[in-house]
Amino acid sequence: MKKAFITGVTGQDGSYLVEFLLEKGYQVHGLQRRSACSNQERIFQIKNSNFFLHYGDLGDSGNLISLLKEICPDEVYNLAAQSDVGISWKIPEYTGNITGLGVLRILEGLRVLGLAKKTKFYQASTSELFSGKPGGPINDENTALEPQSPYGAAKLYGFWITKIYRQAYQMFACNGILHNHESPRRGENFVTRKITLAAAKISLGIQDKLLLGNLLAKRDWGYAGDFIEAMWLMLQAKEPDDFIIATGQNHSVKEFCEIAFKEVGFEIIWQGEGVNERGIDKKSGKVIVEVSADFFRPAEVECLLGDNSKAREKLGWAPKTSFEQLVKIMVQSDLIKAKKELQLKNFKNS
Ligand code: NAP
Ligand code: GDD
Repeated sequence: MKKAFITGVTGQDGSYLVEFLLEKGYQVHGLQRRSACSNQERIFQIKNSNFFLHYGDLGDSGNLISLLKEICPDEVYNLAAQSDVGISWKIPEYTGNITGLGVLRILEGLRVLGLAKKTKFYQASTSELFSGKPGGPINDENTALEPQSPYGAAKLYGFWITKIYRQAYQMFACNGILHNHESPRRGENFVTRKITLAAAKISLGIQDKLLLGNLLAKRDWGYAGDFIEAMWLMLQAKEPDDFIIATGQNHSVKEFCEIAFKEVGFEIIWQGEGVNERGIDKKSGKVIVEVSADFFRPAEVECLLGDNSKAREKLGWAPKTSFEQLVKIMVQSDLIKAKKELQLKNFKNS
């Protein structure tokens, strides 16, 4: 039985990856942070005697080394990170420490324990390595790396240190350069989930309107469930390598809003420009989307679009879920959540 160790197991991707690897017959060990409130919302449903949780933190080398020694994994998936680009501007040093140096702590742990040749390593790299200038290139594995945020800079360190350990110590270490991927398990601060949750709540009358930042930003949005498979495929390949994972299509935040609100019966008419732009429900004339400068970033990655040809050719990977299907899945899931919230509110008021 193969053993996998996943950091970031309580996050969106970690939760899907646990389910995927258990299905494949792995014994799965997950790193869980100590938290005052439960952080197991995405994994509490997993009841499997081959799944083990361990307390730890990417900031604690001693903890990581002792866990790697105890588990002696065949595969490590490093998914843990301070993963919020906007928040990385508020906590840049912490982001550098965890999202950047955290990668080195695991690689060094594997090296000093003599696991460099045994354990395969996956690093959750990102399209935030690219500048995303409008009219720029479609990102492939040779596109220039020019991050625009403390998060992107920290991930650039993680990307390079993974490459360096691969070359210097012949480690089977891979970077998955994943473009944005979403799901009903996406954190509520990220724009897609913020929109789908708001669409559901506004349709039920429990939220008034949605405040957003840059409506013109474009992302190559895929479904997290599809992208997880690519992580695993990278570690099953003959040679370690870096791969762009993306759908090859992008859409603006505005387009995402239009499709999400349509799913709950609203047709958005846009009026105004910049911070004065507003989304109005055609039928009622009510403002349902507004722009707030609070959600602008000091520097922005405007437009991301990935070329997945190498992953298609060498891994046999391709995305399965369309953009429209993704938005629908997320809105329908948030409608169930919002209806429960409404029932609770009505019960408390009765
Ligand atoms: P996520 O939902 O934010 O999950 C992040 C995970 O990291 C959580 O389990 C979190 O624990 C954990 N974590 C944070 N700080 C930690 C620390 N100091 N020590 C140990 N664990 C810590 O992120 P995701 O969307 O699943 O993304 C997974 C990885 O892929 C991240 O590295 C992200 O940067 C990268 N990535 C994501 C995307 C995307 O579109 N989703 C695209 C490219 C790359 P808590 O639950 O306790 O907070
Ligand atoms: N979060 C957020 N909130 N973003 C907004 C908002 C808002 O109210 N309004 C507009 N946006 C814009 C952001 O400025 C950005 O251009 C785009 O929507 C996407 O923002 P996020 O959903 O926060 O994701 P991200 O692209 O910055 O980062 C995600 O994808 C990266 C891969 O490209 C994260 O998952 C990163 O961890 C990941 O590496």
